[in-house]
Amino acid sequence: MCGIVGYIGPQEALPILLEGLERLEYRGYDSAGVAVLGGDGDILVSKRAGRIADLREHIGASEVPGRIGIGHTRWATHGRPNDENAHPHFGCDGRYAIVHNGIIENYTELRQALTARGHVFRSETDTEVVAHLLEEEKGRPLLESLQRVTRHLRGSYAIAAISRDEPGTLVAAREQSPLVIGVGRGEQFIASDIPAILRHTRDVVILEDGDCAQLTADAAQVFTRDGSPSTRQPLHVAWDVHAAEKGGYEHFMIKEILEQPQVFRETARGRLDVEGGRVILPEIDELDMASARKLHIVACGTSYHAGLVGKALIEGIARIETRTEIGSEFRYQDPLVEEGDILIAVSQSGETADTIAALREGRRRGARTLAVTNVRGSSLDREADAVLPTLAGPEIAVASSKAYTSQILTLTLLALHLAQKRGRTVRRELLQQVVDLPAKADVLLSLRGEIEALAGRIAQAKDIFYIGRGLDYAVALEGQLKLKEISYLHAEALAAGELKHGTLALIEPGVPVIALCTQTRLREKTISNMTEVRARGAHVVAIGQAHDEELERHADEVLRIPDVAEELAPALSVLPLQLLAYYAAVARGNDVDKPRNLAKSVTVE
Ligand code: AGP
Repeated sequence: MCGIVGYIGPQEALPILLEGLERLEYRGYDSAGVAVLGGDGDILVSKRAGRIADLREHIGASEVPGRIGIGHTRWATHGRPNDENAHPHFGCDGRYAIVHNGIIENYTELRQALTARGHVFRSETDTEVVAHLLEEEKGRPLLESLQRVTRHLRGSYAIAAISRDEPGTLVAAREQSPLVIGVGRGEQFIASDIPAILRHTRDVVILEDGDCAQLTADAAQVFTRDGSPSTRQPLHVAWDVHAAEKGGYEHFMIKEILEQPQVFRETARGRLDVEGGRVILPEIDELDMASARKLHIVACGTSYHAGLVGKALIEGIARIETRTEIGSEFRYQDPLVEEGDILIAVSQSGETADTIAALREGRRRGARTLAVTNVRGSSLDREADAVLPTLAGPEIAVASSKAYTSQILTLTLLALHLAQKRGRTVRRELLQQVVDLPAKADVLLSLRGEIEALAGRIAQAKDIFYIGRGLDYAVALEGQLKLKEISYLHAEALAAGELKHGTLALIEPGVPVIALCTQTRLREKTISNMTEVRARGAHVVAIGQAHDEELERHADEVLRIPDVAEELAPALSVLPLQLLAYYAAVARGNDVDKPRNLAKSVTVE
């Protein structure tokens, strides 16, 4: 998804912008550009389709002096990914340069009106209208111009702009698209994401919807929608800067997969009282979730799959009716939400447009809201009535791994907490197993050589099927998504009992079938389905618990997870599936951390 970086201060802007954009590469993009306001009053622009390396090459050794500038990585929504559509954009006379994240929904009518007034457009983007609208405010102070322009815009935007007429000012505006100000000493930054500026400052002001900001080298001032100055204080970001970097691994994804034992530790830290048989979640006390009529989990992609695990556990352990819905479906389906319900929005980024819209829809219908998110200060984090953070640390690879396992563990803890609030006994032994999860995950991850070999064998398959029942089915869905998104192999997950209702027709000799079989009550049923596909020549790889020696007889290969309570099995059984996807993508020579067509944070509908 698009990224923004801006700088104003005593240093040369260009290196800061390019380095900041590189830190946003993980978000996924298809073009990049910068605009620097030189001392002579000219705005120098360079923009290119492709990677930031292409932009660097395009700039080459040319001198681009200037101490104020804006930069952008674009993920195309309106108009193809080419040089013209890359940001920054200008009006007719090149007086203003702007970058924008989000979508201007009324851009067609604005463009028609501007064209009728004589403006000439150079790109196909929705963004360019903002530059032309600014031009119509020529003569006014830059901040006031931007404030006036935002009144014409419908949709979502994070905008940063500079002007030849005000060389000491950078302005910005936010509506439903993240934007933060980095506060330095004698210099200020603007960025869509904190990692872009973390090397320069840890003090950030998070803009709210409707805010406009004016940055000079010495100060950043924020104004709310009605134009009054805001007194919002900077937050200090405690992240280790290296946590956002690769730490010696070839890809962020493998680093993040291998971090999961630590993520389990962090997620459970301070939340377990094993002796007392309690899970402590003070963050949700005020919501009184145990007396909720019904829970609605809304999420997209991997987070939706975590939500499916959450539903099964909350219903199974706490016996509260729970529905899990895809965010983009929920928001338009006239959902049956009533006062007394609670909506749980699950999202790594906290910025997924459909999940945010679903949360708002639920709230509008009277539900109280809980965000389960990995990013503090994100839109969901700020909008929900309560927040249960997932504590996975920054996740950079587009394909989610550690955020997923921290989501499922967080939802498991929530299920246990709700059970205890409803007077049900929580097994101490289960809580002890949560404490033991990191050690078990370590054992499992040490088998990665075996999984790498398997990935080599399946890397050229045409179709791969994942089957399972109950919690195993929820994990199968995540396994197939992971494989598809980074290896580009076609994969499909099925509730194992559904095979004979159609998909069995696709099973032919040699087709890999990954069968998850960790749930005692369902294992015989799943074994029958494994037998059915094997009889048709499928190559069955079973994933089961260590003690289940019988699996050997029903599969061509078996990957064993350390013995674990069934409720916690998803937290372990997904690990070999993440590794399988990772090594298959590596074997196929793919760009693992930045898969084609995908973005880390989907902030548009
Ligand atoms: C995960 O591997 C995917 N890239 C994607 O499905 C992701 O989970 C989805 O876009 C939701 O993102 P969120 O958790 O940030 O809301």
